[in-house]
Amino acid sequence: MSAAAGRLAGRRLGLGITGSIAAYKAVELLRAFQAEGADVRVLMTSSATQFVGTLTLETLSRHPVDWDVMSLQPDGRIGHITTAHDVEAIVVAPATARWLSAMADGLAEDTITAACLATDVPVVVAPAMDGGMYTHPATAANVARLREFGYLIVDPEEGPLASGMTGRGRLASIDRIVDATVEALAGARRTGSSAGASGAAANGAASTPTCTARADFAGRHVVVTAGGTMEPIDPVRFIGNRSTGKMGIAVAAEALDRGARVTLILGGYTAEPPAGAQVVVAETAAAMQAALRGLTPAGGPAFDVLVMAAAVADFTPHTKATGKIARGADGLKLELDATPDLLKETAARVRAADATPPAGSTPRRPVLVGFAAETGSLARAADKLRAKGVDLLVANDVTEPGSGFGTDTNHVTIYSVDAPPEELPLLSKRQVAERLLDRIFVRLDAGSGTPPARGPVPDPHREAAT
Ligand code: CTP
Repeated sequence: MSAAAGRLAGRRLGLGITGSIAAYKAVELLRAFQAEGADVRVLMTSSATQFVGTLTLETLSRHPVDWDVMSLQPDGRIGHITTAHDVEAIVVAPATARWLSAMADGLAEDTITAACLATDVPVVVAPAMDGGMYTHPATAANVARLREFGYLIVDPEEGPLASGMTGRGRLASIDRIVDATVEALAGARRTGSSAGASGAAANGAASTPTCTARADFAGRHVVVTAGGTMEPIDPVRFIGNRSTGKMGIAVAAEALDRGARVTLILGGYTAEPPAGAQVVVAETAAAMQAALRGLTPAGGPAFDVLVMAAAVADFTPHTKATGKIARGADGLKLELDATPDLLKETAARVRAADATPPAGSTPRRPVLVGFAAETGSLARAADKLRAKGVDLLVANDVTEPGSGFGTDTNHVTIYSVDAPPEELPLLSKRQVAERLLDRIFVRLDAGSGTPPARGPVPDPHREAAT
């Protein structure tokens, strides 16, 4: 089965592994989730790391494993909170008697309980332990409590146990856990942080999961450029490109859904812009430059986020004929001028305003995001990120199937000034937009668009290319 076509295609899961001998089966479970198309982040208790190595899970999941509740991620974020906000469901397998007890009491001593407390997405729990332990009234009460939270319990199975005895305590089969996860996610849209949510209803797997819109961009002004510019040769002809605007329009739609005020600066496009955005039509690089300059006056930028998804022409005809150029036997030679780099220019204006804020004002440090359409390799992306002066750069190879102009999907790698590049699986453009806004959101909350550079960031694409 192709991952993209799986029952969990494009879904983001947290896999919590606790310290049972059945932890080794979690590796197989991770692979099964991936085979269904899911992107999986692993959380572990420290005792689980004695049963299965973090290196194994990091290698397979392609994400750092979060097992120490007291340590931060390399970019300074709190791993279990990031995971809690980023995933669409958490699956705890295997869940030990001790973990069930900690969770029933809300004791956030490990990354898994902490993440479960911090989120209102569906939680699936697959216990595994000795038979006597599972049937003890204390464990039974804890399982009942978790059911009250709305967690979906995948009961253990009868069979030989690690102790050599036989009883009910074996981790449920991989298939049953995957099926339960699909069931828990059915109809559930990610609900974001736990703020104000009632766990039982929101986590309900047996009941219909709720659909709570997030408003984490409320009060923010997000500017998005989208589509391709059209540089006129004469009144009927232009130099253009294949951009349809789908990716930028998806970002605008996602930002609107999350409560932002959105200005959408549009070149040529065929996708439908979302209702609610303030649309500024800017069909040429010059018009787009004027629109962006209008939003970055000397006093400081008028936005919190700029996502520059437009395919801006790099060249424009030196002269634009006022009348239609007639066909001629000698053909036509065009002289082209380079256009300014709008993103680089805007970033420089934003940073200059930030360095010299008007007296008494609080500097606004927007998050700046560029896109990079590459062909064949992403080796130039890290340099583009630095050259343009942006916080994040979303790069894709437009020659890759499912990743080019006009497709509904995209396979992107997000480059960041302060973290290693992050390759996302093939996702719908709307899902890419959602993930991108998640990464923008944590930068807004950090209160600074551009944290100081922390030295060279390894780039697997560059290493592969050299
Ligand atoms: N961009 C811009 N102004 C331009 C060209 C590009 O602001 N004149 C922006 C795009 O909107 C995108 C980013 O710069 O966010 C990267 O665009 P891309 O076309 O990948 O790179 P270029 O800078 O044009 O470099 P090259 O043509 O060498 O790939």
